[in-house]
Amino acid sequence: MKRVKTYIHGLDDILHGGIPQGHIVLLAGEPGTYKSSLAFNIIYNNVMNDKHVACYITLEQGRESLIQQMSGMNFDIGAVGNNLSIVDLALIRKNLEKLGQQSWMQIFKTYACNLKENIDYSLLVIDSLPVLSLLAEFSNPRIELFHFFEWLREMNITCILISEMASGKEEYSQTGEDFLSDGIILLKMEKVGDVNVQRRIRVVKMRATDHSSDFFTLLFGKAGFTATRVISE
Ligand SMILES: Nc1ncnc2c1ncn2[C@@H]1O[C@H](COP(=O)(O)OP(=O)(O)O)[C@@H](O)[C@H]1O
Ligand SMILES: [Mg+2]
Repeated sequence: MKRVKTYIHGLDDILHGGIPQGHIVLLAGEPGTYKSSLAFNIIYNNVMNDKHVACYITLEQGRESLIQQMSGMNFDIGAVGNNLSIVDLALIRKNLEKLGQQSWMQIFKTYACNLKENIDYSLLVIDSLPVLSLLAEFSNPRIELFHFFEWLREMNITCILISEMASGKEEYSQTGEDFLSDGIILLKMEKVGDVNVQRRIRVVKMRATDHSSDFFTLLFGKAGFTATRVISE
């Protein structure tokens, strides 16, 4: 089975090489837990090292703001060239005029399909799924998300869907996308002692993979992201 490396040191061993190609994986966590940065880390390194072509659709944060943040985290945006497309709402909205009366979801799908025909990306990030649902104004979110997943699967790509979790809540998703997805990676902040907070990462679910479900400490440094065993006091 082909796998897409996460390029998080330590995590690829836990995943026996990475995320199985073709999987739809939820990356869930509260605000500030590195969801966008980790998703970017995965596609950036796959473009740089493994000849993948990728697309990052940012619906929450503008394109320039995302690029600025990723440059600050030592990703060389200039180096990936056209093999990594970053698309934001403004870019999709430009197409809205041409497409006239169609629903937002239809426009989104048309945009994603056209881009697939043009650059043939194998990796897609959608940041985030709750914002996509909000924009699509689903009248029946469960059913419409089910169809959205069906549509995603037909694209034959590996997809990372970012899911915002509400502070203090344990749910990975709001409308059942945790059942529909092939994998769930959870990010969280853990209070250690009275003043310290550490970042944690846990593979909750990964189909076709015999993985550890433990929490690992997530570190970011010069060498990128690393997942290490939590040292319990
Ligand atoms: N240059 C940097 N180096 C290390 N950490 C950073 C840097 N810039 C921002 N951060 C951290 O990244 C966090 C935001 O990460 P992000 O991936 O946007 O989170 P999320 O998408 O989960 O909200 C910030 O709250 C900050 O702690
Ligand atoms: Mg984010």
